[in-house]
Amino acid sequence: MPERIDDLVVSATTALTAAADEAALEAWRVAYLGRSGRVTQILRSLAGLPPEERRAAGAAANQAKTSLEAALAAREAAVRGASLERALEQGRIDVTLPGRPYGLGRLHPTTQMVREICDAFAGMGFAVVEGPEVEWDYYNFEALNIPKDHPARDMWDTIWVSPEGPRAEQPMLMRTHTSPMQVRVMEASGGGPVRVVVPGKCYRYEATDATHESMFYQVEGLAVDVGISMADLKGTLYEFARRIFGEQRRVRYRCDYFPFVEPGVEMSIDCFACNGTGCRTCKQSGWIEILGAGMVHPEVLRRQGYDPEVFTGFAFGMGPERVAMLRHGIDDIRLFYANDFRFLQQF
Ligand code: DAH
Repeated sequence: MPERIDDLVVSATTALTAAADEAALEAWRVAYLGRSGRVTQILRSLAGLPPEERRAAGAAANQAKTSLEAALAAREAAVRGASLERALEQGRIDVTLPGRPYGLGRLHPTTQMVREICDAFAGMGFAVVEGPEVEWDYYNFEALNIPKDHPARDMWDTIWVSPEGPRAEQPMLMRTHTSPMQVRVMEASGGGPVRVVVPGKCYRYEATDATHESMFYQVEGLAVDVGISMADLKGTLYEFARRIFGEQRRVRYRCDYFPFVEPGVEMSIDCFACNGTGCRTCKQSGWIEILGAGMVHPEVLRRQGYDPEVFTGFAFGMGPERVAMLRHGIDDIRLFYANDFRFLQQF
């Protein structure tokens, strides 16, 4: 007999208790119950025993084998249960933890300003319309009373899409202002009254600096009807200035030149930073220029089929970035489109 059966059962049981994972259990099975394992060896050695000992020893060895097999099965179940427990514990989700907050997006400061300006006019009965950013020479210049080779074209440094070639008689450009929409709206109105504001992007072939961008926004305005006078222009834009810059604002109109209006004006407001006494914001003048405007030129009306003896109108155009710069004390227009979150998140 290689060793006593009950000693073997004791040591095997102790070793089994120490086996804590599947690999250790398999090693244990090979060591004791495998083909050359210790229990198997005992069973094989039975053949060499004298017959009177063989029966008792055989029964004891078989019983030891059965009970160790049962112990292994129980231990396997226990180890598997424990590893499931562990996996569950590790994968546990604490539903009481607060969620991760999403960063809330916001509107670009230009968009906010454009909407505020449009809302101010919408409240006075103006519809909001948009138009193409790539435009024909005809709408951007020609129909606005700015003929080819006229020196007034120098007011707008133009990015041409097709200055000549197959389309030479109809050159195409990036609109330099939103004023071409005046023409498109009148053209589409069937000769009836018009009251619109037009927000949108404009493009200039220009070196950029603190007050110039090659892409920027404008908000255009146009009102055409029977009996519209300069008083309507002044009253409407005065009301706009008060809505955007405050109830106590005063406005000032001075003559200016734009080919598509007659007379043309620039509108300034008294400085909201110093109330007109003179400061950095108004460059010590007490006034801040806000927009260009005027009474629609008779030639512009006539071209779109309006009789200028019956219909009159006023138009205006402004830069929302400039308005936002004044309002927030921003000193460089390029900040709007540099995509710098530190800047954008302030609005
Ligand atoms: N389109 C002009 C510009 O870009 C601005 C302007 C001036 C628009 C007077 C108007 C206006 O409608 O009446 O410089």
